[in-house]
Amino acid sequence: MPTAPFDLLPSADPTAETIRADILENPGFGRYFTDHMAHVRWTNAAGWHGHQVRPYGPLTLDPAAAVLHYGQEIFEGIKAYRHADGSVWTFRPEKNAERFRRSARRLALPELDDETFVESLRALIAQDRNWVPTPASEADECSLYLRPFMIASEKFLGVRPSQEVDYYVIASPAAAYFKGGIAPVSIWLSSNYKRAAPGGTGYAKCGGNYAASLAAQKEAEAHGCGQVAFLDAAENKWIEELGGMNLFFVYKDGRLVTPKLTGTILEGVTRDSVLELARDEGLSPEERHISIDEWREGAASGEITEVFACGTAAVITPVGELVGEDERIRCPEGDNPIAKRLRKRLLDLQYGRAEDTRGWLVQLA
Ligand code: COI
Repeated sequence: MPTAPFDLLPSADPTAETIRADILENPGFGRYFTDHMAHVRWTNAAGWHGHQVRPYGPLTLDPAAAVLHYGQEIFEGIKAYRHADGSVWTFRPEKNAERFRRSARRLALPELDDETFVESLRALIAQDRNWVPTPASEADECSLYLRPFMIASEKFLGVRPSQEVDYYVIASPAAAYFKGGIAPVSIWLSSNYKRAAPGGTGYAKCGGNYAASLAAQKEAEAHGCGQVAFLDAAENKWIEELGGMNLFFVYKDGRLVTPKLTGTILEGVTRDSVLELARDEGLSPEERHISIDEWREGAASGEITEVFACGTAAVITPVGELVGEDERIRCPEGDNPIAKRLRKRLLDLQYGRAEDTRGWLVQLA
């Protein structure tokens, strides 16, 4: 379905080039935002309309807007990469678009068609392409992180799906998600909290899932850890995922295991890509249940040789240890060669340094 064109309302006060250059030197993650944002409005009566790219800035929301009370909200995370010839590309946006529709269905929000989703990224990049950083080297994972999101904006306190919704895309130049770059992170094993339960919203990318992870994330930080790992809610036994990333386990016989999707785990685009790229590395990927005991025993016996986290923001980051109330599971000492190889394969593809045999890249500018 062809999408409506995005009207342009250029910013009257764009960031000065010297300030933007300083920001792009050291953007961190999620701290700075570009000059524009994309917006499309939905009402029950008119459907999707008002496609626009306009100056980035605060939203005006009625204090009774449904999102502020009942959390009817979903979002996505996807990156724009600058290639050596200056062109700008994104990675498997149809996967994000499809997940966004799945999340919308779970949160009783209207579905945005995939073409409009991809076009909204393109329309924003057309204005803000100078914000896409140029990597300084092959190890540099800088990009422009794009954050599409949808909120229930109807002024109404009754509990029912909102009849008015707004979709936006904002963009933020990004370096590595973790301060230590690809240095192994410590992970806290939450025993007090669960992230998702069967029949709940675990598979949806909705703000509520992340809000529910924050108390556990605070515990993680209090214990010197960068992320929190959750076990399943029913049996408190099966490894699910981290607060904002999926997990992989490398076995010494070449198996690469990740928890199976059962409705409580976010279907990560990076997770899916790693499962495919693993075969090119001669690994045998497996999606199955993996228990916390298997992690304990595998790390102790040396069967598990590496553990890594992955996500759009985190790319692929090795896990150094899992810290619990009264235990510490150290991942085997080592250089995490498999995580590093998969990470390089993924980044080479995303930055156009390797041939895109699967047609995963989509040009934005
Ligand atoms: C992403 O990886 O894009 C996410 O949304 C996760 C969050 C930790 C930034």
